[in-house]
Amino acid sequence: CSCPCKCTHWPKGMAFSLEERLQLGIHGLLPPCFINQDVQLLRVLKNYDMKRDDLDRYVFLMGLQDRNEKLFYRVLLSDVERFMPIIYTPTVGLACQQYGLIFRKPRGLFITIHDRGHIASVLQNWPEKDIRAVCVTDGERILGLGDLGCYGMGIPVGKLALYTACGGMPPQQCLPVMLDVGTDNETLLKDPLYIGLRHKRVRGQAYDDLLDEFMKAVSDRYGMDCLIQFEDFANVNAFRLLTKYRNQYCTFNDDIQGTAAVAVAGLLAALRITKSKMCDHTIVFQGAGEAAMGIAELITMAMEKEGLAKDECLKKIWMVDSKGLIVKGRDHLTHEKERFAHDHPHMKKLEDVIQELKPTAIIGVAAVAGAFSEQIIRDMASFNERPIIFALSNPTSKAECTAEQCYTLTEGRGIFASGSPFDPVTLPDGRMFYPGQGNNAYIFPGVGLGITACAIQHVTEEIFLTAAEALAHLVTEKDLAEGRLYPPLSSIRDVSLKLAVKIMEYAYEHNLATLRPEPSDKQAHIHSLCYSTDYDEFVVDSYRWPEDSMVVQSCKL
Ligand SMILES: *[C@@H]1O[C@H](CO)[C@@H](O)[C@H](O)[C@H]1NC(C)=O
Repeated sequence: CSCPCKCTHWPKGMAFSLEERLQLGIHGLLPPCFINQDVQLLRVLKNYDMKRDDLDRYVFLMGLQDRNEKLFYRVLLSDVERFMPIIYTPTVGLACQQYGLIFRKPRGLFITIHDRGHIASVLQNWPEKDIRAVCVTDGERILGLGDLGCYGMGIPVGKLALYTACGGMPPQQCLPVMLDVGTDNETLLKDPLYIGLRHKRVRGQAYDDLLDEFMKAVSDRYGMDCLIQFEDFANVNAFRLLTKYRNQYCTFNDDIQGTAAVAVAGLLAALRITKSKMCDHTIVFQGAGEAAMGIAELITMAMEKEGLAKDECLKKIWMVDSKGLIVKGRDHLTHEKERFAHDHPHMKKLEDVIQELKPTAIIGVAAVAGAFSEQIIRDMASFNERPIIFALSNPTSKAECTAEQCYTLTEGRGIFASGSPFDPVTLPDGRMFYPGQGNNAYIFPGVGLGITACAIQHVTEEIFLTAAEALAHLVTEKDLAEGRLYPPLSSIRDVSLKLAVKIMEYAYEHNLATLRPEPSDKQAHIHSLCYSTDYDEFVVDSYRWPEDSMVVQSCKL
């Protein structure tokens, strides 16, 4: 694009200097005043305060992202804790449900099942040539909200905005992709505002062919080290595709592996409170889907690292799905669930399971709101000095229990983390607790940054354990004393940088990095790749407008 004022990544509005306005031929197209980014930030924040609800705030911020990208990220970084719940869970869920209504301008690349055979040429239409990270969804299981079809595009868009805001990855190197294969959601098929294909989901061979072609086309165009992050696919496809592609491409599934790393980081931080080892724990999962399997896998790895045999590790983990406790010989057991099926009579209710197994930790990941009943939380508090209770389902409306319920019913002894944010809780005796938010944003931007910074081509499970350990390590004693299992969100840029450095170190040690020569100062290397929200200068030095020209004279007045 030869005109910076009209190009999506470059505009700076009234921050264009006089010289820039003259050289770029936009003099007169802006009000005469020069306004720097600090003042622009102030203006945005004042407007933001006038919005009535979170959906309005979302629409407002997305509008800003379209108009002035640098200012958008400057706003996000000015208070990550405040803006994250708007551009990400929980508000992004609401936005996806109404994506057709709030649609203003397309963002990201839409590839449909009917583009089979032509994906490479669709990719050619994307204006950027150097893409380092792709985030892709087929919209079948958006957060805990179900099949939102093409409306699910809000998720890759939001995730990649966090790659930049939290990880510092330049936005032009990130590509959000919707693979539209249809939707089975009747509400959407009848919705006049729906933006996607109006037919049922195409499954089977045609679906698989689409994904194969997509993976190949992306790697052909952007390189084997272009990271492809899978997001919000349904269980049936998520595991299958991860297994199929993980050794072939540079890819990971955030719902399985990213969620796992952030949950395990929370557990590792909890171990610092309980002064115990991972293998001292018995863990019950409410849910046996992507998140549960991913977390269980990493917990097993952490236990093995402590010296426990693999079989013994698996025995410490129990899962409850919609049919009850997963035990040997039960019906409806997928290959993944089979691994965590133990010899035990079948039990249907979570309450009974908890009373029977007396776990030290319970982890909710099934998007069944309120699944951790008063009874369960009280029981956990009676079995354990410091019960670990993680209500990880998103958005907030799907959480297994609230932070307040956990702290109140355990008299402040519960070690709590949630997926979506909860406000701090004050108990009647005046003690205050800050619930940990096991937000995936602690993990994937740092992991993505680390992977792309040294051109890792295959994302191993150990990379996620490394990230989890590094994250848990960043929690201070003071954080722990206040109930926080994660570093403050406000420090996320620094957290991501440190995670990325750890991952680079790990990658070079284990021969996973393909960038040569190995940068000696890894932190400096990563820094050099990071996006700055400062405006670029567009004045060409060699070009000088004659000082005595009328234009220059009149502007100076
Ligand atoms: C169908 O779409 C609507 C509107 O976006 C959403 O609220 C609902 O959760 C979806 N239902 C299912 C079953 O996926």
